Amino acid sequence: MQIHHISAECYPVAKVGGLADVVGALPKYQKQLGHDVKVFVPKYDTKFVQNNTFDIIFVGSVKFGGHYYPFSVHVDKSQQLGFELHLISIPGLFDRPNVYSYGDDTERFFAFQLAYLNWVKFSGIHLPDVVHCHDHHTGFIPFMMKHTFMFNFLRNTPSILTIHNAQYQGWMSKDLVHYFPEFYASDFGMLEWGGVLNALASAIKCSWRFSTVSTSYLEEIKYKANGLENLIHAESYKARGILNGIDVDVWDPATDSTLPYHFTAKTVKKDKFKNKAHLCQIFGLDPEKPLFAFIGRLVPDKGADILAEISFKALENYKQNLNIIMLGSGNNQVQNQFETVKHYYPKNFANFTGYDESLAHLIYASADFLLMPSRVEPCGLNQMYAMRYGTIPIVRRTGGLKDTVLDIGDSGFGICHDQTSVSDVLHAIYRALKLYEDTAYKNRVVQFIMDLDHSWEKVAEEYINLYKF
Ligand code: GLC
Repeated sequence: MQIHHISAECYPVAKVGGLADVVGALPKYQKQLGHDVKVFVPKYDTKFVQNNTFDIIFVGSVKFGGHYYPFSVHVDKSQQLGFELHLISIPGLFDRPNVYSYGDDTERFFAFQLAYLNWVKFSGIHLPDVVHCHDHHTGFIPFMMKHTFMFNFLRNTPSILTIHNAQYQGWMSKDLVHYFPEFYASDFGMLEWGGVLNALASAIKCSWRFSTVSTSYLEEIKYKANGLENLIHAESYKARGILNGIDVDVWDPATDSTLPYHFTAKTVKKDKFKNKAHLCQIFGLDPEKPLFAFIGRLVPDKGADILAEISFKALENYKQNLNIIMLGSGNNQVQNQFETVKHYYPKNFANFTGYDESLAHLIYASADFLLMPSRVEPCGLNQMYAMRYGTIPIVRRTGGLKDTVLDIGDSGFGICHDQTSVSDVLHAIYRALKLYEDTAYKNRVVQFIMDLDHSWEKVAEEYINLYKF
């Protein structure tokens, strides 16, 4: 099968969140199953792009909104990522360091989608057997494949949408409908939801099937999806929940090159602590105390807004018998709140602002517990990374967290709570401290979670089945 993945992110090319990890891993495992897999991402000005060389295989142009954008397609012939990486270079739009948050994001991703379709049309390649779009940045592709005169040579090619997060939808004013290549006016409804053009809604309507990154999340978005509930209800006959995997080659504490000390489920008891001692030394924390960590974007969806209060109260209530470390960036107010907690508890609280991939690995390898009080978590990968590195997850029962973590009270291996609230998380921390005191039991749990299988192999096949019509 020739499979095309189109995405705004792909690890290690460009990463903001979990979307990158999925698009950097799933294609590799599909390729290992014997498929011809190509991944398309914009050619940003990131470190990976600067440090690698690519071959230009196509030059073309797209035109919309009165602007003309020349573009070129660059391929990594070495296939070092385990699949054929295609970078779409659009000068003036993507030769910038960041993935999102520019004033012209609408035009940037519109041009990207058009450039991909132009390449399919004019490069002379065999038509793909499936076009797999990820999130709203690629959400207008299914519409254009089905309804625009220019690209409806693809109307018999299945298009698939994976929703990694339904909160963000790619809204666009109706006035911009002239950006699109021509289509029958009667198909306009396929672009629109709630009075505006909505890329995610359009992809839900026009894709042949769509998936969410966990089963629970698919159920949840029928009731809570930032305005798309009714649409998701109506279209759920063609939806499936497929839980993400993790790349167990990249995330392996036995070989992880970013770690000072390697370990396995057999050696975790002594060797995980060595990493912890190393990390605690860097941040001035006492390694003998249980270490709680948070890794992620500092946004309300992840529950980041209550983390400072939780930390402060936990340190107060539990007499500083714990340490807490935060890694992430986002909301400035949250960052300032962390500084305040650090001011009062410099020996127990540490934070690192920004995203640092190797520090994240070291924290997973060191921490005893990982906090994930997410309000919204379509899948969540961090709890799976944590478990593979022997860190016990403390999660809110939502989305993929609910599907991957079972509470120790139900003969499980993690700590779960129901609400994203200070009191729920504080109580969860209290339970964690009790677990920590019972060393033998805690060690058994740690060994158990390290052996859980969250690899992509099985999942990659589930997607292949999703592509079959
Ligand atoms: C998004 C979701 C996260 C999910 C990831 C990969 O970042 O918020 O829950 O794990 O996509 O699918």
